[in-house]
Amino acid sequence: MNNNHSNHSNFTSKIGLILATAGSAVGLGNIWRFPVLAGQNGGGAFLLLYIICVILIGLPLMVGEFAIGRHAQSNTAHAFSKLTSHKIFKNIGRFGVFTGWFILCYYIVVSAWALDYFIDAILGRFSKLAEEGDAQIYATYFKDFVSNPYLPVGYTILFILISHFIIIQGVKRGIEKFAKLMMPLLFIVMLVLTVFSIFTEGAHEGLSFLFKPDFSKITFSTILVAMGQAFFSMSIAMGCLCTFASYFNKEANLIQTAFKVGIIDTVVAIMSGIIIFPAVFSAHFAVDSGASLVFIALPNVFQQVFSHLPILSYIVSILFYFLLVIATLTSVISLHEVPTAFLAEHFKISRKKATSIVTFTVCLFGAICSLSNGPLSDYTLYGKNIFDLFDFLSGQLFLPLGGLLIAIFVGWSMNKTIIHNQLTNFGTIPGRGASTIVFLLKYFIPVITLLIFLSGLNII
Ligand code: PHE
Repeated sequence: MNNNHSNHSNFTSKIGLILATAGSAVGLGNIWRFPVLAGQNGGGAFLLLYIICVILIGLPLMVGEFAIGRHAQSNTAHAFSKLTSHKIFKNIGRFGVFTGWFILCYYIVVSAWALDYFIDAILGRFSKLAEEGDAQIYATYFKDFVSNPYLPVGYTILFILISHFIIIQGVKRGIEKFAKLMMPLLFIVMLVLTVFSIFTEGAHEGLSFLFKPDFSKITFSTILVAMGQAFFSMSIAMGCLCTFASYFNKEANLIQTAFKVGIIDTVVAIMSGIIIFPAVFSAHFAVDSGASLVFIALPNVFQQVFSHLPILSYIVSILFYFLLVIATLTSVISLHEVPTAFLAEHFKISRKKATSIVTFTVCLFGAICSLSNGPLSDYTLYGKNIFDLFDFLSGQLFLPLGGLLIAIFVGWSMNKTIIHNQLTNFGTIPGRGASTIVFLLKYFIPVITLLIFLSGLNII
């Protein structure tokens, strides 16, 4: 072990660290959120903008967080306070830990829906709905489920408990082992579904929607949405990348790792577009049907597309929701790890105790977020229920603010030798691209993230 913290362990292999980090990045953001946003923002044009944001904003910030985490070899909050004596910068880490915890409280609710749909798919519920012959039935089914006072809360608690038992095993045994097993599986399932999708009737229309950019669809707000999505999908500014990088060994090439994770994350998002859009087009569903795409449109779409072969729609539904559950679980684990690592190291308590505290608080707030779609739906602020408020505050405000602060910190305040040493592994590797990354962090990213932040506040 190459660090000086007795209670701080490392990933054991290069592939393990890449898969664990990719496991964190690949999640609801890729499979649920990306197709929704692409559907609403012009398909190919959005994809193009998204890729530009990943390269110019996402990757440099990821590298910056990696450098901070691996240098400090501690949880996010301590990492920042070790590196600076400046009061605002010292608190960026704590803010990241808080954001990670905050996102987890509502992310877990959608994860619970995915788990429920996976079980429904196994039980063949969607084919039973199809027999009713009314497309509206899927919307009613979804609304009835999310507004039920018990079921979604039960699944929310179940989901967080699964993640609890995995991370309680620690970094090597828990997170790395799980990611090494699950990420290849996820990729195989995606590949099978992609092939299915290419042979559906709507493939041509779906693929040209996703890949042919229509530049007339690009507006200022499309750019902002694409940037916000890059943050969310690449797990930026939530303390997660920093925490994971503290488990990297000293040989890990930070720039290359960020590239590999960024490529995996983007490929998975594109693959989910390839899986979803042809199916949606062949069933003549609206591509911009919003957040309900995965939970209302898709179950219906799978039934319609394979209506001549019901066994296929049964298998494809199971595979798809299984995929969503695995991808989500690896992300939930990493979000869970951020406050856990902080509590364990800060208060010097056991990992088990720290995990339990996080689990308990997330159960509590997760249940409240879940209930806000049902019995608590009357409690709103600015017309948003609690679930939507969590989504809005984290996506539009906390993430861009965190990204802004990280970029300013790495670009302007952090010791240049530390950055150089981290990006070149103390001069032992060339660290190609390091100066471009620092340049982007210094000038370009602060301006852009400030714009997203202000637009989130409706100031511009
Ligand atoms: N990037 C994840 C996704 O796309 C969400 C996430 C954010 C996970 C931060 C972990 C940490 O779904």
